[in-house]
Amino acid sequence: MRPANDILTSELVVELPRPKTFDVRKIRKDFPILNQKVDGKPLVYLDNAATSQKPQAVLDAMMRYYLEENSNIHRGVHYLSEKATQSYEAARDKIQKYINAAHRQEIIFVRGTTEGVNLVVSSYGRNNIKQGDEIIISAMEHHSNIVPWQILCEEKGAKLRIIPMDDAGELLLEEYEKLFNSRTKFVSVNHVSNALGTINPVKLIIQIAHHHGIPVLIDGAQAIPHMRIDVRDLDCDFYVFSGHKVFGPTGVGVLYAKKSLLEGMPPYHGGGDMIKYVTFEKTIYNDLPNKFEAGTPNIAGGVGLGATIDYLNQLDMSVVNGHEQELLEYATDALTSIKGLRIIGTAKEKASVISFVLEGIHPHDIGTILDDDGIAIRTGHHCAQPVMQRFGIPATARASFALYNTKEEVDALVKGIYRVIEVLT
Ligand SMILES: Cc1ncc(COP(=O)(O)O)c(C=O)c1O
Repeated sequence: MRPANDILTSELVVELPRPKTFDVRKIRKDFPILNQKVDGKPLVYLDNAATSQKPQAVLDAMMRYYLEENSNIHRGVHYLSEKATQSYEAARDKIQKYINAAHRQEIIFVRGTTEGVNLVVSSYGRNNIKQGDEIIISAMEHHSNIVPWQILCEEKGAKLRIIPMDDAGELLLEEYEKLFNSRTKFVSVNHVSNALGTINPVKLIIQIAHHHGIPVLIDGAQAIPHMRIDVRDLDCDFYVFSGHKVFGPTGVGVLYAKKSLLEGMPPYHGGGDMIKYVTFEKTIYNDLPNKFEAGTPNIAGGVGLGATIDYLNQLDMSVVNGHEQELLEYATDALTSIKGLRIIGTAKEKASVISFVLEGIHPHDIGTILDDDGIAIRTGHHCAQPVMQRFGIPATARASFALYNTKEEVDALVKGIYRVIEVLT
């Protein structure tokens, strides 16, 4: 018999995590679109917060679906329909596991983050918000987490209350706490700001809301490509994200919601698949999750999102995050040294998103000149006009980095910005 400490040691050795290195060259091979030239210059894709590129494995899965399985789901008894249903529902299971939801019925396929928010507003909001009620959102929301709530407020005579932020782009949590009163009925905030890059302390934001008995929706559109999301650890009531921001297809996304809440919510859309039984007098709605999935869904998109989760599962998100944080630091240092350049959004906790303005130069001109060098960034208000108003600017230029970006691409960006300055001043 081996001594106890010998067993312990050998077990420890087996269980110790092996250090993981991140091979960005290898990762880039997974994304064929990156390997192209724009006007003879290598494409430098830094518009990942708008949409991310797709790995070959996701494209293959979608092609395979159309080539070998295409059929309508749920209603068919034939071979293809069963295959398509299996693939689509397997994707739901993969998403459930990936975000650690307790039940597969808590995963509702939607078109994307925007539709996820609208579903919650239309179904939960219409049912629970009354005249005089208050909904808390933050000063750094994307329009898709402002306008749907505003429409509801107009309809019901309710009011939006806004968590303010400081000049670094960090939410003022003491002010947030002060917003709660007996009229508060909902909190809806983003996990990561698309315009500033700020990573919000959503776990704390949720805890504070729950302390007041108020449910919380987290807009995870910009968080999901950068970090592992655990909805049970966060204890959020709703979490929404888009497939296309996390290396998956466009036109498909996820609304996670606690089963107990979904059960009490009326359907969002009416139509096929969301029913059990229809007469002209009354309709019996289907069980979860189908109750919220009316009509033929984006089947290929769902299958593609499943393949995206497979792709993500073979990565270590903490290692990916380390690489992105290195890029963020490297780019922040380099951009800060450019005279006349001001970074908008300097929170301590940031995802790899850098918004900036150049003195005397319109962001659109920055984008256009960089495009001549094959560099893709985004310019404008980033669907976050209140953020622009808060910082007193009409627009920013935004470079956003994903796991496949490199320091050489940051160098190209910096060189390009110097060229912009040279051309325009
Ligand atoms: C923070 C945030 N929320 C919501 C959205 C809307 O996402 P979609 O257009 O995929 O619905 C975006 C898109 O940029 C975003 O960045």
